[in-house]
Amino acid sequence: MAARERWASRIGLILAMAGNAVGLGNFLRFPTQAAQNGGGVFMIPYMISLILIAIPLMWVEWAIGRYGGVRGHGTTPAIFRLLWHHPLAKYVGVLGLFVPFVVSCYYVYIESWTLGYAVMSLLGMLPKIPATAGDPEAYLAPYRDFLAHYTGMGEGDIFRPSPIAYAFFLITMVMNIYILIKGISGGIEKLAKVAMPLLFFLAVILMVRVITLETPNGSAVQGLNFLWEPKWSELANPKVWLAAAGQVFFTLSLGFGAIITYASYLKRNDDLTLSALTASSLNELAEVVLGGSIAIPAAAAFFGVAAAQTIAASGAFNLAFVSLPAIFANIPLGQVFGFIWFILLFFAGLTSSVAITQPVIAFLEDEFRLDRRLAVLITMFVLFGIAHVPIFLAGALDEMDFWAGTFFVVVFALCEVLIFFWAFSPSAAWAEINRGGFIKLPRIFFYIMRYVTPAFLALITAWWLFKVLPGYLAESRWTAWVAREVLVSIMALFCFLVYYQDRRRRRRKK
Ligand code: ALA
Repeated sequence: MAARERWASRIGLILAMAGNAVGLGNFLRFPTQAAQNGGGVFMIPYMISLILIAIPLMWVEWAIGRYGGVRGHGTTPAIFRLLWHHPLAKYVGVLGLFVPFVVSCYYVYIESWTLGYAVMSLLGMLPKIPATAGDPEAYLAPYRDFLAHYTGMGEGDIFRPSPIAYAFFLITMVMNIYILIKGISGGIEKLAKVAMPLLFFLAVILMVRVITLETPNGSAVQGLNFLWEPKWSELANPKVWLAAAGQVFFTLSLGFGAIITYASYLKRNDDLTLSALTASSLNELAEVVLGGSIAIPAAAAFFGVAAAQTIAASGAFNLAFVSLPAIFANIPLGQVFGFIWFILLFFAGLTSSVAITQPVIAFLEDEFRLDRRLAVLITMFVLFGIAHVPIFLAGALDEMDFWAGTFFVVVFALCEVLIFFWAFSPSAAWAEINRGGFIKLPRIFFYIMRYVTPAFLALITAWWLFKVLPGYLAESRWTAWVAREVLVSIMALFCFLVYYQDRRRRRRKK
């Protein structure tokens, strides 16, 4: 059996893990979620979810991954089987393939828009309308039309993306394939070492530019105030808590299986307590400080706080691809700042998309003994095919994001922590987390991981099941049902592969 790949250096590992986490979620999803959920009040449940669920889960995922990797497995169908001797364990682990794979099927496409917009911004191909006083909606209309033309997203059930959008999608696919084929240390780690420092550098440039923006309509500082001024009345609203917990999951790539797979390339005694904390802190820096200081404050400076809030409420795409190009069109060197904004998003997206495609690749390599190149090509070929569902079918992207990116991440995280801290062994799980650690975790985290995190996750899952799902299912259009059938087929395919592999394994053992 060939030895599994390893990270080449600690700094490479931390940057790759940070790259896994820092993504479109930090710069697009976070500001939108914060603005939609009461601005400053959002940060309170956000911080509580971070401490009680996210950071403990981060250690759990790193530990599960390292445990599996040392035993030759990088994905949860096999690792859960090792941790929990129950016939169902491997099927629960299927979620660790399903979630990242489904997210990657739409993620790569959105990532390709950022590359397309970066290039078009640099070449001066984006609209340039001089700002006028008055209704921002009217002023933004040409930018909205441009995006609608680019993506082909309109009122109908079928989208017609422009050839240029499709071309950038192909280019983005090829770039992902290239990096993935180069492997863990030769591709993903090398990418992270270049892309992450560059990303932080670009984000700081942009942040400084935005903070100094001031127009007759308002200033960036007013936007920051809006985001950071707590509105306590909203705190009793469960929707805000759900959104905050969901954001913490998405941004840290928790419940995706992607952290587990990356951690499976650690060595047996490699530190994980401090490394996981460092990678998470880098993500939070990119999210709360940088992500929170660009899009919303820029929109507030340009359109005023109230209009910025309306824009953010209309969704992340409007904020990123409509309002920011409109702002950059009206400042000196706008083309360059536009390029910086979109290429920054692209790097953030690329370092995350290779992470969320890696679990299925690792599954094929570890469990079916496929050579890396073949595993990458098969995975990306299927991903390419399925990506056409969100590219062409209205509502499919939201549907995939709802199930995989929002609902199942929480369910899967709950399964992870229950399997590790209940089915496996609480003391062994705790020892596994702390082995080789550069910092020793305070004992209180043992109790948090064993009781508080699962209770919190169970509460969120129950809320989803009983409060959110019924309404959601009742409002569906036909395209949503097509997307659901695709999702069920993907799940069935992974279950079959796991079943088939397990049968082969048993036969070999006899
Ligand atoms: N964690 C990744 C993001 O924030 C998926 O986009």
